[in-house]
Amino acid sequence: MIEFPLVHIERVPDAAAVAARGAALFAACAAQAIAERGQFVVALSGGSTPRRLHAGLTSDEWRPRIDWPYVEFCWGDERPVPPSNPESNYGMARETLLEPLGIESAHVHRMHAEVTDMSRAADEYARDLVRLSGTAAGAPPVFDLILLGMGPDAHTASLFPQTMALHVKDRWVVANPVPQLGTTRMTITFPVIHAARAVIVLVAGAEKGPALRAVFAGPRDEDRFPAQRLAQGAGAIRWIVDAAAHAALE
Ligand code: 6PG
Repeated sequence: MIEFPLVHIERVPDAAAVAARGAALFAACAAQAIAERGQFVVALSGGSTPRRLHAGLTSDEWRPRIDWPYVEFCWGDERPVPPSNPESNYGMARETLLEPLGIESAHVHRMHAEVTDMSRAADEYARDLVRLSGTAAGAPPVFDLILLGMGPDAHTASLFPQTMALHVKDRWVVANPVPQLGTTRMTITFPVIHAARAVIVLVAGAEKGPALRAVFAGPRDEDRFPAQRLAQGAGAIRWIVDAAAHAALE
């Protein structure tokens, strides 16, 4: 069994509870960051799980409890498509979170992963993140919160097994070729995840069970199971896992 310091696994009944807990933690992180620094710099994740989280954040329960004008919206990864494409992580967030909340574009920092030179766009995005988070030159940007999911292959963000980005130590955002998907994706790198003040990993569904078991109870193999590296950060890492996925750890 791998002992992961700084990691807290919270088992909740189902996918709705994962989203509800994620919304509550998002609100708590936002309140603390805004009180301490006057802004909340958050990286959203993609896929389908965040849709439920966004519904929770725009609900009558949480919408009034977050100081939205002080939130700076960023992304942890993006597909090589324009916002209008259904695959776009930004497009999904615009539809389910940003437009319903009436967020002003000045506070939305999307990844321009649809451009021809994605590597150059990644460097530009990294500079934006450093400016936004006010970190010193040469140091990774510090998010107040990074929201992540985990795929059935134990990828997180777009840090997929056996891909180049897993080993990057001196760049904060890269264009990462993903041969198993036949595409390239823009993604933050592990130095950025490890520098965050807080990281929340939302996992729901029995299909995530084997990957969860590999991450927490399998042999140490970070190339095969990238999410094993979600435990070396300076900040607090919380896994919110539904019972269906958590069963694989029991
Ligand atoms: C993406 C996400 C990705 C996602 C996982 C899990 O762009 O697809 O950033 O890392 O978090 O694939 O997705 P679900 O939570 O929707 O299963």
